Amino acid sequence: QETKGLKDYYQNYFPVGVAVNMAALSGKTAELVTKEFNSVTPENDMKISVIHPRENQYNWKNADAIVDFAVSHHIKIRGHNLLWHTQVPNWMFRDSTGALVSKEILLKRLKEHISTVVNRYKGKIYAWDVVNEAIDDNPDKYLRNSLWYQICGEDFLAKAFEYAHEADPKAALYYNDYNSENPSKREKIYKLLKNLKDAKVPIDGVGLQGHWKLNDPSPDLIRAAIDRYASLGLKIQITELDVTIRGPRTRPKPQSDNSVTLPVDSGYTEGIANLQADRYRAIFQIFRDYKQVITSVTFWNVSDRYSWLDARNGGLAGGAAASLNTPMVVRKAYPLLFDENLQRKKAYWSVVKF
Ligand code: G3I
Repeated sequence: QETKGLKDYYQNYFPVGVAVNMAALSGKTAELVTKEFNSVTPENDMKISVIHPRENQYNWKNADAIVDFAVSHHIKIRGHNLLWHTQVPNWMFRDSTGALVSKEILLKRLKEHISTVVNRYKGKIYAWDVVNEAIDDNPDKYLRNSLWYQICGEDFLAKAFEYAHEADPKAALYYNDYNSENPSKREKIYKLLKNLKDAKVPIDGVGLQGHWKLNDPSPDLIRAAIDRYASLGLKIQITELDVTIRGPRTRPKPQSDNSVTLPVDSGYTEGIANLQADRYRAIFQIFRDYKQVITSVTFWNVSDRYSWLDARNGGLAGGAAASLNTPMVVRKAYPLLFDENLQRKKAYWSVVKF
């Protein structure tokens, strides 16, 4: 009987966290969460669309439940997130006629939102993802052309951090993004962070989401990204780690009779399990090497029983198969350290044996 959990193996390094939803707060999943992890991030329940669905209505139920669960089990909490381009209800950007509001009104609403949410969990949430994914993926563009940007220009970035800091001066404030190791995107994120630092905006660190593949990004690119961001004096948190086993999605070619042969899902074979264990071993070696700057590592979901990667694609072979109107093949991502029966996978042992 193994009595130690991930958090115990890593007690001299960093808290090990997991994204949770309501289903993770009870039964066997909750037992696993409290045994293995010492940090949680609400997967969805603090996003504006959930916690603040209408201008004059907050919905605290799920967020409170997660915070209460964590506090009662002495688990740290990362808040996620205060500003994103998606999952924002229309009321935030529009007036009663449907027209976009002015910058002044939008910032007023943003301030009200951030102050209210941060203040409610003051002293309980130790770190916030203040701004999520504001950089464009297109190498030729800098900031994402979101409604935040269209209405406010760049100013919404600094403001969001200032409002959060005012509401809870002790909370650590993070900028969070994906593909942050990609050199072109990395340099844009670096520029954004540097601008904020130079302007004395209260920002403590950067979250690398870590939605990674078996061989991408390379260990060298991960190290280069950490070095680059840390050179600004920022802390690094790995905020949404998972390693999908799915290869690139390819559209199956229709045959001459117009029928389509779908790729077969080979499932989670022993070969794949080994590759994934090797990948996780290499990743955690990097994290341990950087323990001076990495202040937490959080997995995005608990086990392969439920991952956002499967939920999003309906477990299918990408959008291609669906759009061809053919029977669909199940290709799960198997991205986490625990299997569908909540048992530790080979990848788990590769992370804790060092
Ligand atoms: O709760 C509603 C339900 O009432 C409704 O019937 C159903 C129909 O679509 O939707 C449900 O909401 C879904 C929600 O997850 C809860 O399951 C949303 O459609 C769905 O879009 C949402 O997906 C989440 C996604 O962010 C978008 O907010 C994923 O669970 C969540 O894992 C994912 O997390 C993001 C991070 O916040 C930021 N970084 C990337 C990461 C992965 O996309």
